[in-house]
Amino acid sequence: MKIIVTGGHGQLGSETKDLAKQHPEHDFVFTDRDDLDITDSDAVKDFFAKHQPHAVIHGAAYTAVDKAELEKEVAYAVNATATEYITQACKAHNARLVMISTDYVFDGNGTEPYLPNHTTNPVNYYGYTKLHGEQAALSYANAVVIRTSWVYSVYGANFVKTMLRLMKEKPQLNVVNDQVGCPTYAKDLALAAFTVITHPNFVGGVHHFSNSGIINWFQFAQQIQANANLTNCVVGGIPSTQYPTPAKRPSYSAMNTESIQQTYQVAVRSWQDALQECMQALAV
Ligand SMILES: NC(=O)c1ccc[n+]([C@@H]2O[C@H](COP(=O)([O-])OP(=O)(O)OC[C@H]3O[C@@H](n4cnc5c(N)ncnc54)[C@H](OP(=O)(O)O)[C@@H]3O)[C@@H](O)[C@H]2O)c1
Repeated sequence: MKIIVTGGHGQLGSETKDLAKQHPEHDFVFTDRDDLDITDSDAVKDFFAKHQPHAVIHGAAYTAVDKAELEKEVAYAVNATATEYITQACKAHNARLVMISTDYVFDGNGTEPYLPNHTTNPVNYYGYTKLHGEQAALSYANAVVIRTSWVYSVYGANFVKTMLRLMKEKPQLNVVNDQVGCPTYAKDLALAAFTVITHPNFVGGVHHFSNSGIINWFQFAQQIQANANLTNCVVGGIPSTQYPTPAKRPSYSAMNTESIQQTYQVAVRSWQDALQECMQALAV
């Protein structure tokens, strides 16, 4: 298959690049803003005409959740309008589409892991734009939306790398303990997206993927600290009210991943195992 991957320099894109090395039977085309601005509809059409893809993993996104509250126009253009362009291009080429979305489409009032068909109700603008992107993708029968959460990787900027830096720099650190969800190693997400898009029984719909286990950010930080043995820093838990951010976050965003496991035989490992592997890869 010829597979275009948008967001090629991002966390998911970079992990997919590593995965692609093990799959020479597929022809991957990685693209990012430097060679294709996905908000340019003509550029998207030209890119698809040039590469004639069979499939697209659409990972490019405006992912700065707090900045999206201020830069609303650009966030909407990238996450919603550009996803519509990508979807139209997939339709024109009869290509499979996997669009990556977010747990932030939910309002966080749930108390059990969200199912894919649970009512969406984003509480921040990033979530609103991603939901509109989902709707654009799902106007195409050959599209799968994979919602994921709390993504980290050896690549890019993320919570794991930020915690490691701060725990080395600071004697004391506070992390919110009232936002509950599940981390996702982008390496595992890359394998999930690849498994879905190359699956012989590919069928459109919405699925959830994260590692397994339900924790809060403070617990995540504690495990990072323990794995790295950074005992000089005292890590404390605080409520979100003591760490105000421009964008509101859902207080509960754990997702039920059964449908992707059953439909696509995607394996889900524990967040602890995935974190350990990532930290080993980071050589911490
Ligand atoms: N990170 C998370 O915690 C998280 C959680 C839930 C869901 N997700 C979703 O998972 C997917 C992958 O996330 P990620 O963490 O890998 O994201 P990422 O590291 O932020 O990468 C996103 C990529 O998209 C590119 N991009 C942005 N605007 C573009 C444009 N106009 N044209 C072309 N490329 C553009 C970015 O390029 P620049 O660097 O040049 O801007 C970046 O390389 C995204 O769809 C995201 O919404 C992420």
